[in-house]
Amino acid sequence: MAGRVCPWWLGYFHLGPIRKIFENPRKILSPFVNRGMRVLEPGCGMGFFTLEAARLAGPEGRVYAVDLQPRMIGALERRALRAKLTDTVEARVCPAETMGVGDLDGTIDLVLAFCLVHEVPDAERFFREVRQVLRPGGRCFVLEPAMHVKAEAFEETLEAARRAGFSVTAGPDVHKSHSVVLESG
Ligand SMILES: C[S@@+](CC[C@H](N)C(=O)[O-])C[C@H]1O[C@@H](n2cnc3c(N)ncnc32)[C@H](O)[C@@H]1O
Repeated sequence: MAGRVCPWWLGYFHLGPIRKIFENPRKILSPFVNRGMRVLEPGCGMGFFTLEAARLAGPEGRVYAVDLQPRMIGALERRALRAKLTDTVEARVCPAETMGVGDLDGTIDLVLAFCLVHEVPDAERFFREVRQVLRPGGRCFVLEPAMHVKAEAFEETLEAARRAGFSVTAGPDVHKSHSVVLESG
C-alpha cells in the first residue's frame, strides 16, 4: 500500500508536546538504542525520534536520518544544531524510490521506520534496501499509526517484509500503533 506523502508543514505538528505524552521517544527507543550504535532512520521528518536516538547512541554512535522532503531535513538540521547533536546526526535528502544509502551497506545496527512504510511507493523494495543496509544480526523497528493504517494493510506490509527476507516478531506496545521488529537473520 503506497499512500500520500505527509505534507512538510505537518512536520511541526509531529513535534508537538502532546505526542510526547503518548509516544515518548526515550521510552520507546531506550530498549533498542545503545551507546555506539549506528542507526538509520528513513522518513525521519523533522526528527521527533531522531534527536533522542542520537542522545542514546552518544557521540561514539551515528544516526543517519533521511527524508525525501528538503524542508523536513532543514528543520531537523536546525534542531540538531540547537541540541548540539550535529556530530552524531547526519541528515540527507533522498528520492522517493531509494533511501540513497548504498555507502552504508552492511553497517547499520538498527533501522527505525516510524510512520513511514504506508507512504513509500513499494514496501517490498523498501524492505530489501533496509535488509541490505543492516549488518548481520541487525534489526528494523517498524511502527505504523493504527488510525491511518488498517489491520489488513499492515498485514500486507508484513508480507512485503517477509518477501524481502525478514522474520517478524511483535514489537513493544505503543499507543495506537502497529509495532513489529524485523530480523534479518
Ligand atoms: C508521517 S511522517 C513521520 C515522520 C517521523 N518518522 C515521525 O514519526 O515523526 C512521514 C515522513 O516520511 C517521509 N517520506 C515519505 N515517503 C518517503 C520515502 N519514500 N523516502 C523517504 N522519506 C519518505 C515524509 O517526507 C515524512 O517526513
